Amino acid sequence: MNLILLGAPGAGKGTQAEVICDHLHIPTISTGNVLREALKNGTQLGLKAKSFMDSGALVPDDVVIGIIKERLGEDDCKNGFILDGFPRTVPQAEALDEMGVVIDKVIDIEVADEKIMQRLSGRRVCQDCGASYHVDYKPSQTEGVCDKCGGKTVQRKDDHPDTIKDRLHVYHEQTEPLKDYYAKTGKLTIVEGQEEVSDTSALVLKALEA
Ligand code: AP5
Repeated sequence: MNLILLGAPGAGKGTQAEVICDHLHIPTISTGNVLREALKNGTQLGLKAKSFMDSGALVPDDVVIGIIKERLGEDDCKNGFILDGFPRTVPQAEALDEMGVVIDKVIDIEVADEKIMQRLSGRRVCQDCGASYHVDYKPSQTEGVCDKCGGKTVQRKDDHPDTIKDRLHVYHEQTEPLKDYYAKTGKLTIVEGQEEVSDTSALVLKALEA
């Protein structure tokens, strides 16, 4: 199954992508993770993306379209994939269509902006393995230390409150129009993000079977 996860920053796309990945055994392609990895490794791509990401802006379309083109050509995508964080603009969705990629389902996870602020400002991520925690909803056993690998957990630069506001603004302006784009194809299902991760997962898995 070829799947797109849509939703505002912090709606829980990454969290649900892990659940779907376990369920369907298909890889997740997160443009955010690819860009953060490039940033960490100091590659050309990372240097190009840094200022956009730090300020909450989108990285230029041609850069992310190039990443996706390359990644979808890899062997592990032959039996399906989950796109998490791509497309994020109408030109990115059009580029995907032009590549001849057939999308089976688009799941949009809806969460109110105030809730997003709480979720993202409390998120901490392991700087070594990328595991994600939340200071209130999902704290690590020892504060600042990753349960999985013992690495240091930190706040992402773009999870500071002012940058979250900018990311939400960018989302409403540039990404939300994709709901109409995919509603017209008849492949869109909207899922209301719940208080409990497992409740959202149940709705997402149900949407996959519909
Ligand atoms: P990216 O990494 O894609 O950021 P994002 O969309 O802002 O996604 P997040 O990872 O912040 O949120 P999420 O929805 O995955 O939420 P999560 O599951 O972690 O992109 C970062 C940057 O890269 C962009 O700003 C842009 O600059 C660039 N970029 C990436 N793709 C691009 C593209 N295609 N074009 C241009 N630029 C691009 O959950 C969030 C928190 O909430 C966690 O703490 C979690 O524990 C908690 N949580 C989740 N679900 C629940 C729940 N049900 N109840 C309570 N807490 C919950």
